[in-house]
Amino acid sequence: MASTSDQSLANALCRRLGIRYPVFGLAHSIEVAAAISNAGGLGVYAAARDGPNELAQKLRDLRALCPDVPVGVDLLLPTALPGVSTPEDVSAAIPEGHRRFVDGLFERFAVPPATAGNFFSQYVRSQALFEEQVAAVAQSEVEVFAAGVGTPADTIARVRRAGKTTMALVGAVKHARKAIAAGVDVLVAQGYDAGGHTGAIGTFTLVPQIIAAAEGRPVLAAGGIGEGSQIAAALAMGAQGAWLGTVWLGSAEHRLPAALTERLLAAGSEDTVITRAHSGKPCRVVRSAFSDAWAAADAPAPLDMPYQQALTGRLLAAVEEHEIAPLMYEAAGQSVAWVKEVEPVARIMDRLVRQTRQSLECLRPYLPD
Ligand SMILES: Cc1cc2nc3c(=O)[nH]c(=O)nc-3n(C[C@H](O)[C@H](O)[C@H](O)COP(=O)(O)O)c2cc1C
Repeated sequence: MASTSDQSLANALCRRLGIRYPVFGLAHSIEVAAAISNAGGLGVYAAARDGPNELAQKLRDLRALCPDVPVGVDLLLPTALPGVSTPEDVSAAIPEGHRRFVDGLFERFAVPPATAGNFFSQYVRSQALFEEQVAAVAQSEVEVFAAGVGTPADTIARVRRAGKTTMALVGAVKHARKAIAAGVDVLVAQGYDAGGHTGAIGTFTLVPQIIAAAEGRPVLAAGGIGEGSQIAAALAMGAQGAWLGTVWLGSAEHRLPAALTERLLAAGSEDTVITRAHSGKPCRVVRSAFSDAWAAADAPAPLDMPYQQALTGRLLAAVEEHEIAPLMYEAAGQSVAWVKEVEPVARIMDRLVRQTRQSLECLRPYLPD
């Protein structure tokens, strides 16, 4: 467990989890997640794109990277998915016009084919896959499990029985009620400002409503948070911490392709858009020629999950492999405004903690002597 000698920002939830700072960070990289935990926060590895065998190994590697501090893993577990279970089934259901549109993007941007498959050419988001991913999580040694989309009660019960603290991302009070009914320990109130799949309610509006609905459970604030003053504001609203995704995209440990890093460093809050073109569900991403193409008047409507990623997977794998700069993008929140340079996670954490302390200090004059 982390040393809690520096407890000036450690609250009840930090003490329960054994972390120093109420700063939670989600990343698709085990190196970044481990670095967040090693820096005194709680790193959560987003594993939705790992097949079950790969996931079990990744979680062992994650544990090895931060052996002395708690760490978490996050899965996307949408409940309403069609019954398709093989890439062939999904492929057969994709309309010809959509295929032609994606072929057109290959041509327009001169994208060579990918030499290897990716998650979407091997797997389909289906209940069978989720079951295997959950089994890998339950058997792992990570301390925290977060459900990103969907909170199936049997999964939450199983992971809790395995001794893990459970968290669920919620974007509306009705989602919070479902998560509470499923037995989730901690709610993450994720607002519209956030990178990734997002709802319609802004973070500042959402957090107090989720706290009121939480029946005493700890709530974390997420969405659009990039500096400590916002963490202090979240604490002032009654949240037990802040959950950040986008700021870690600027971390050295992430090792993103140079063209993507450049796009993120150059982006301001106004350069993110919500699109269904990423996964079929509304998702906030940094704007690129990819999101522009799907927003054009002649574009077909994006398909539902899991068809959209099955459709675009081979294009995006090729874009990543060959670093086709105009089409490169990533999920990113309005907090991308604070991604201004590439720096180690520990420095980002130091800054967030220092700024949070300063902002809490600013509240002192408002307190009675
Ligand atoms: C690149 C990226 C990928 C994300 N992937 C996931 C994911 O797989 N699962 C999940 O629960 N949330 C995911 N999110 C959302 C984060 O958990 C978090 O709620 C969000 O980033 C908070 O807003 P912010 O981006 O403004 O910090 C992702 C966010 C980003 C930026």
